Amino acid sequence: MGSRIVATGRATPRTVITNHELERRMDTSDEWIRTRTGIAQRYALCTDESLVEVAERASRQALARAGMKPEDLEAIIVGTVSSDFGFPSFACQLQHRLGLNSIPAFDVAAACSGFIYALSVADATMRAGEWSRVLLVGADALSTMVDWNDRSTAVLFGDGAGAVVMVREAGQRGVLGSILRSSGEYWELLSVRNRGIQSPIDAEARANRDDAIKMKGPELFKIAVKSLEDITRKVIERAGVSLDDLSLIIPHQANLRIINAVAQRLGLGAEKVFTNVDRYGNTSAASVPIALDEAIESGRIRDNDLVLLNACGGGLTWGANLIRW
Ligand SMILES: CC(C)(COP(=O)(O)OP(=O)(O)OC[C@H]1O[C@@H](n2cnc3c(N)ncnc32)[C@H](O)[C@@H]1OP(=O)(O)O)[C@@H](O)C(=O)NCCC(=O)NCCS
Repeated sequence: MGSRIVATGRATPRTVITNHELERRMDTSDEWIRTRTGIAQRYALCTDESLVEVAERASRQALARAGMKPEDLEAIIVGTVSSDFGFPSFACQLQHRLGLNSIPAFDVAAACSGFIYALSVADATMRAGEWSRVLLVGADALSTMVDWNDRSTAVLFGDGAGAVVMVREAGQRGVLGSILRSSGEYWELLSVRNRGIQSPIDAEARANRDDAIKMKGPELFKIAVKSLEDITRKVIERAGVSLDDLSLIIPHQANLRIINAVAQRLGLGAEKVFTNVDRYGNTSAASVPIALDEAIESGRIRDNDLVLLNACGGGLTWGANLIRW
């Protein structure tokens, strides 16, 4: 027995912030942002919006596409570091919005690797026979945690949610394997002191600068490239397949230069790497499921394709999932 993704969905806050809008707010330029990151716009959660509501929309879309009702679910797992509350978890808030009671609902906090970690947890638990139908969500709103005066981080992040429905199933298709890694040694490369939504772009009051996201971008860049190459090779090798067998990689959408550098090291052409960072920015744990949903919608993934998901983020955490679609 294994687990298989049978449907996907995605949702974003309603406000689009273009690079030109940021040019008006800080000392930056569309040209700098595009050439250093590949980002042209991002969605930003505003003060009158709720990230749980965004996640609910993505979840309901995935459930409808799976032909399921919320009542069919046996567990909810959310990869997120953006809950409004220390507790209850984001997953419990989402469970309530979906009108469910009593099934397990919990968060996995691994920053940008949150969805990759959550997928590995769901797959292992389903293989063990515990659940048959699981809702898995990646949802984050890191734009609400930046210091809007710090141009080196404020331009990078966007908000959103992606959802998948997984079912327990026998057969060749489904999750072939996952590998997860963390290195607390590097925790100071990317961190935010307080949890939760603090400083939406339209808020009048700004969070204390010390509470905003802190990032050592250039160091992080180098480690991200190395660790993503390494984890991709390891999960491929463990599954007994080769890089040539891969149909598509869906990488975490942090920065186009990171994505291209990893693809180049792996010897993969652009046709094998999905990107949408230009329209979303770095949506943290939401980036992989949003990209997966777009890849399916645009016909880039077909039955029996070999698909690899990978991500690296604060922690540092990194990981990869290999899927026979
Ligand atoms: C943040 C990042 C884009 C910066 O790119 P970089 O090429 O390393 O640029 P640097 O930080 O060396 O800065 C170069 C110059 O651009 C300036 N700069 C930084 N942000 C800028 C902005 N938004 N607009 C204009 N100039 C900017 C810097 O002040 C610096 O100027 P200086 O040379 O006069 O000191 C890059 O390091 C990166 O993407 N790192 C990984 C970040 C990431 O993806 N984190 C999440 C991982 S999950």
